[in-house]
This record gives sequence, C-alpha cells and structure tokens, in this order.
Amino acid sequence: MTGREAAAAGAERAWRLEERESPFHLADDARAGLTASPKAMSPKYFYDARGSRLFEEITRQPEYYPTEAEREILRDWAAWLAARTRSEVLVEFGSGNADKTRVLLDALRDAGTLEGYAPIDVSADASRRAAEALIREYPGLRVEGVIGDFVHPHDLPFGGRRRLFAFLGSTIGNFERAEAAAFLSGVAGEMRDGDALLIGFDLVKDREILERAYNDAAGVTAEFNRNLLRVLNRELGADFDPDAFAHRAFWNAAEERIEMHLVSRAAQTVHLEELDLDVSFAAGESVRTELSHKFTPDSARRLLAGAGLRVEGWRTDARGRYALCLAVPDGEG
Ligand code: SAH
Ligand code: TRP
Repeated sequence: MTGREAAAAGAERAWRLEERESPFHLADDARAGLTASPKAMSPKYFYDARGSRLFEEITRQPEYYPTEAEREILRDWAAWLAARTRSEVLVEFGSGNADKTRVLLDALRDAGTLEGYAPIDVSADASRRAAEALIREYPGLRVEGVIGDFVHPHDLPFGGRRRLFAFLGSTIGNFERAEAAAFLSGVAGEMRDGDALLIGFDLVKDREILERAYNDAAGVTAEFNRNLLRVLNRELGADFDPDAFAHRAFWNAAEERIEMHLVSRAAQTVHLEELDLDVSFAAGESVRTELSHKFTPDSARRLLAGAGLRVEGWRTDARGRYALCLAVPDGEG
C-alpha cells in the first residue's frame, strides 16, 4: 500500500506525498468502457499534467461560475468554520492546485489551531506544485498527502489529530450516485470525535447557465474533454485523432446532471495497440466522459444522511448558485 515516498530536498523534510499503489487500471477500464454500449470512460483519467492545467484554466473561464461562487462562500464563512471546528489539520480530497484551500488555511492559522495539511489527489503534478507552494506560504505547516485514488478513503494522514475534511469544487457530483454514497460512508468511517466535513454542492439552476459553464466560448472544456483521448494514445498506444471527436455537454434534467460526451464526427475505427483492440464508432456515436450532478438542499441533505452525516451548517453564495455544507457524524452533538 505504501509506495515510494517523495520528500523535498534538504535535511528537513518539508513535505511528503505518499504514492500509493495505483488502484487505477486504465487498460482494464478502457477495454470495459470502450466495448460497452453505450461507451463510457471514468473521468479520473483526465488529470495527467496537461489535464490538471486545463482544469485550472476551466476554473478561470467567465462561464464557469462554481469556482468563484465557492470562493465567495469560503471568504464569508471561513472564520466561523475555523472557530467552530478548531481543526488542527485540513485533509482535502481532490485538492488540485489547492487555490481556494488557502482561504481555509488562513482562517485555521489565524484561529491558532493549524498544524498540517493533507492533499489527497490522483494528480502527482498538481499535488507537488501545491505542496511546494504551501510550505513556502505557510512557514511551519506540515504537508503530508497521498497521491492516489480517493474513492475508498482509508489510513488518511494525521490520524489522531482534530481533522477537517474538505471536498470542494462539487467534485462529489462527478461520482455516480451510488459511488457518492459509498465515498461519503467511507469518509464518515474515517471520522473521529471532533472531526468535520466541509463539502461543496453546485445547485440545480437554469439550463442555460449550467450548459454555458460546460461549453465555454474559449473551448477550454472541449480541449479538457479531448485530453482523455491523448491520455489513451500515450498510455495505451491508441491512435485516436482528437479532432475527429466533438465535445458535447448538456443538462439531463431527469437525472439532475450535466453529462459530458465525446461524439465521433464520422464512422471510424480506432486501434489500441496495448489492448490489441479495435474499437468502431458510428458517425454521431458518443463516449460519455463525465457526469456532474447538481443538488438541491434536500438532495444534498439526503445524500449526507445516507452516509450517517448530519448538516451542521449550510451557506450559499449571494446569488444562490452554489452551497457549502459543514457536516458531522450523526449522533454527535
Ligand atoms: N478542488 C479543486 C479541483 C477540483 S477538480 C477545485 O475545487 O477547483 C477535481 C480534482 O480531483 C482534480 O485535481 C483531480 O486530479 C482529482 N481527482 C479526480 N478523480 C480522482 C480520484 N478518483 N482520486 C483522486 N483524485 C481525483
Ligand atoms: N467538479 C467539477 C464540475 O463538475 C469538475 C469539472 C468542471 C469538469 N468542468 C469540467 C469535469 C469539465 C469535466 C469537464 O463542475
């Protein structure tokens, strides 16, 4: 379970990111997903170094409101959260570049309780960049993270300290519903007395606003979507022509989610050398690459309750587009 440990240069160990044995099986997942009907791929494979950079660029697009909405709530609420939780450690799932995270770290530092930060992310590149920057910005901060899958949380860093778990960016919405419930149960199982979970939920709203957020005019989300094909080309010796696939993102009202697809512009066959596999696409046939579920206060509360978590606090941005929720194990007062 423990792999290579990467320590920053120098006598003092400034940060440590444990690379856990990859639970990802791109070859098996690609074979299953591309031979299924309809075709689908897991979004976790978007995030190679280029994919992580593209995601960061998405968050800067004017159409993509969740990042700024969440930052607004964090700014208004962080001092209260810090006073309420008195957390010594912030454990963040899907931390990425940990940009918004700094608002929370500032508040915990100002409250005088902050000792450590644990980023948990599949992207080694984003995690290393974040760790390097944070130890410079927060002198004395212990950074001990995990590079790996967050789907089944276990043996998370800083056990025994008072921990605030954070799951920002409405990344919870990217799971299938059953997966989201299982993930939250896993987090609840890791929580000890005094721990809490801060989780972001993008809210159900007008179709136009939602669809614009995933179809930015600059085409960054489209490029991010096609990055999956570049990953398959590099990792599995595939010969996808990314330009032969169109980006499509639309609101599925019945499922209350955005779905992202790559649509084959013409009939074509792609070869995946490492899998010794040919995959045929009809013109207009799509591969589903991402789900982004949207929530209501009620659906969020029910999802948490199913994992034994109770809503302790709930805040939206001024325009009511996005919510942050502080949750604690049910039965704890
Ligand atoms: N928290 C940031 C980034 C959100 S993007 C924000 O709010 O802007 C989702 C992040 O989760 C990416 O950094 C990606 O690398 C990571 N990620 C996606 N699937 C993952 C998985 N299965 N296990 C671990 N990390 C994952
Ligand atoms: N959690 C983010 C969301 O669902 C992830 C995301 C934003 C995303 N834009 C994307 C994932 C585009 C794939 C493609 O909004």
